[in-house]
Amino acid sequence: MTEPDFVKRDFIMCDLIAKKRDGGEFGAAEIEFWLRGVLDGSIPDYQTTALLMAIYFRGLSEHETFLLTDAIVRSGDVLDLSHIPGCKADKHSTGGVGDKTTLIAMPLAAVCGLTIVKMSGRSLGKTGGTADKLESVPGFRLTLEPADLQHQAEAERLVLITQSSNLTPADKRLYALRDLTSTVDSLPLIAASVMSKKIAAGADVIVLDVKFGRGAFMPDAANAVKLAELMVELGRQAGRKIAALITSMEAPLGRAVGNALEVWEAAETLRGYGAPDLRLLSLALTGEQLYLAGLAETRRQGFRLAAQALEDGRGLTKFLRFLRAQGGDTAKLEQGGFLLAKTVLVVRAPRGGYLQAVDAARVAGIVQHLGAGRLRVEDKIDHQVGVWFDKQCGDKLTSGEPLAHIYAESEEQAKAAAAALLSACTFSDTLPELPPLIYGVVTTEGFIPWTELQQDYQ
Ligand code: URA
Repeated sequence: MTEPDFVKRDFIMCDLIAKKRDGGEFGAAEIEFWLRGVLDGSIPDYQTTALLMAIYFRGLSEHETFLLTDAIVRSGDVLDLSHIPGCKADKHSTGGVGDKTTLIAMPLAAVCGLTIVKMSGRSLGKTGGTADKLESVPGFRLTLEPADLQHQAEAERLVLITQSSNLTPADKRLYALRDLTSTVDSLPLIAASVMSKKIAAGADVIVLDVKFGRGAFMPDAANAVKLAELMVELGRQAGRKIAALITSMEAPLGRAVGNALEVWEAAETLRGYGAPDLRLLSLALTGEQLYLAGLAETRRQGFRLAAQALEDGRGLTKFLRFLRAQGGDTAKLEQGGFLLAKTVLVVRAPRGGYLQAVDAARVAGIVQHLGAGRLRVEDKIDHQVGVWFDKQCGDKLTSGEPLAHIYAESEEQAKAAAAALLSACTFSDTLPELPPLIYGVVTTEGFIPWTELQQDYQ
């Protein structure tokens, strides 16, 4: 971590904890001192966790959050993408169930003129991250030599690699301690953690997808908007063009939850057979990137450009070229036979009527039990297992027709998952009223609600 000149004196950690406990505000030198001590081991974990708990209850001002974010960015490598031509864009989701929008939005953005050099971590969650999903394509490589990365960024405008091991090391340490001390759910700590990684990854344009609901970090839309406003402000202060979509994560996004299944669904969506919710959000995220980058004059034009790239097949062609450029064998993805789980079990609708709700958090738990998630980074995951929903919320059902397919390693696991899946679903006699998937967009100028946005997304 490079040390600014103003870090001349040391503080006493005990005093910093007391200051925050009593509601005080830190300056840059105090935050710098703390993070330096976290990284060099001179501040013991028990003092850092006490401070994290004080921050959890007392919060951080916007200025403190900016200082913390900036110090975390400088704690490790900062990617310099300036030698790669064009406008570099990134998108980030705060985490959802069945969220494979990156796989769809990335190639669409690339064919519309943006350059995507994306770093993606392996997930520690209940379901896989983008890196895990892509590893279900045989041969796909997540590490590239710098010269190959540069070549691919110029030739394809699309590269995805695993996160460099020295990107934001202070965040890795703090996150591990937060995870063990129930201090993850703090708006300023989440904002600093997410934005430090995005800023260090070097993109000029950043579009966030901040999720709320049963399957997300944030319980409700109001808190998601607050988090988004903070992150957008941090990005703006760091000189990036940034906006955040606020989206519901009550039910899984699209039809698939599970690594290979989600890659298959992404390809199907790019072929033009996407579920409406997944298509809408993927196009909205792509369009927002194009609009922020100045490649579209309006949000509506951004959405239309993305939709055209999907409808005329350029997005699919780019997705397959990208996979092959990084060593992926796309034959089975193109011809079928990509889904290879040992057992496939059909879950049938227990009654007629409508599918009213599907609990995203419980679906994530089911898919984790099938083997698609991990508890430690080194854990192996099963890329082939998961759930494919034949029906989505609001769909009409006839008793006995397929509701979902379970992909599992054994019949026993599939049966247990099927029973759990049925109890995660709610049914109704009448057409349920579903809230919009996109609640609004937080921009540097303010919040735009769905009622004003929907005309742009057509
Ligand atoms: N994701 C992150 O990267 N950091 C957090 O603190 C929470 C979610």
